[in-house]
Amino acid sequence: MIYRGTARNLARLAKLLRAGEVVGVPTETVYGLAADAFDAKACAKIFRAKGRPSSDPLIVHVLGWRDVGGVAETHAAAKGLAERFWPGPLTFVLKKKAAVPDVVTAGRPSVAVRAPSHPLLRRLLRLAGRPLAAPSANPFGYVSPTTAAHVQRGLGRKVKFILDGGPSRIGLESTIVDLRDPARPRLLRPGKITREEIEEALGVRVAVAARAAGAGRKGRLAPGQFARHYSPHTPVVPHARLSESQAARGGKGEAWLFLARPEKLRGRNIFWMDARGDLRGAGRRLFSILRRLDEAGFRKIHVELAEGPGLAEAINDRVRRAGSC
Ligand code: TXA
Ligand code: MG
Repeated sequence: MIYRGTARNLARLAKLLRAGEVVGVPTETVYGLAADAFDAKACAKIFRAKGRPSSDPLIVHVLGWRDVGGVAETHAAAKGLAERFWPGPLTFVLKKKAAVPDVVTAGRPSVAVRAPSHPLLRRLLRLAGRPLAAPSANPFGYVSPTTAAHVQRGLGRKVKFILDGGPSRIGLESTIVDLRDPARPRLLRPGKITREEIEEALGVRVAVAARAAGAGRKGRLAPGQFARHYSPHTPVVPHARLSESQAARGGKGEAWLFLARPEKLRGRNIFWMDARGDLRGAGRRLFSILRRLDEAGFRKIHVELAEGPGLAEAINDRVRRAGSC
């Protein structure tokens, strides 16, 4: 059931979390499926509901830097990044403390931590009085949810409680940076907070972890780097350049998703992410459009890639993953 964020509902959901239930929660990036991060049994329910392999660790959500010490080994570089970007869409991987159950980190000696900015989730975290472990609230491998309705549709009766916080403002999952060794940070997943911004804040270069190539190997750091992730059932075809004439020539049974509204071309199979091609708008709507097109029964979904560094990297990463099989 979907709950509005009234004081009474928040108190009730916090109580359920403390009692070991899982709750679908809004964040500024995508919706998460949350449980008490210190309760191994509760966290195991997350994996069952999502059909997520137990080898794929969860992100621990905290209110702020002060709570990180309870779950991870801290250092000045991480503190500096937290001061600059938290609460917000940035996740650190740090060495874990023993208090975090193995199920959360998939047995790894490291833990992923982030302080979300969504006001309703922050109120829930405060009321629950403990960190909440949460991956995205989608069946494993499918497109991440950006509304409460997406969560309900995807997970159905497996999740009894969903807090509605409106459509996610950013629409793409958080940037993940491996900070176990502060001298050698690595970008594990691009997001709204860009590599350039992190480099500037840290004063060192941030390496980019190999994505799909290493994904099948043992000992990889981020299992979320599975090449095929965020995928609709319909085949997605990424295009570095997509012209109106190309789409006009294409079959009507295939969808064409442009970044900006095409100048002339219109049709029932022609779509765009943001009227003006603004990347923030495009990122915000990408997942919900992919879901809609997936349900519309097209044979293929052609998607235009973004250009440039920054948010374009995050958008392209998701489109390419949606397209790989
Ligand atoms: O924006 C987000 O990050 C959203 C919201 C709910 O906070 N969460 C999210 O979680 O996208 P998701 O489904 O991507 O799962 C967490 C990912 C894993 O797939 C993995 O890549 C990474 O976080 N992760 C978690 N623990 C890790 C660790 N110890 N080392 C490396 N990567 C880790
Ligand atoms: Mg996910």
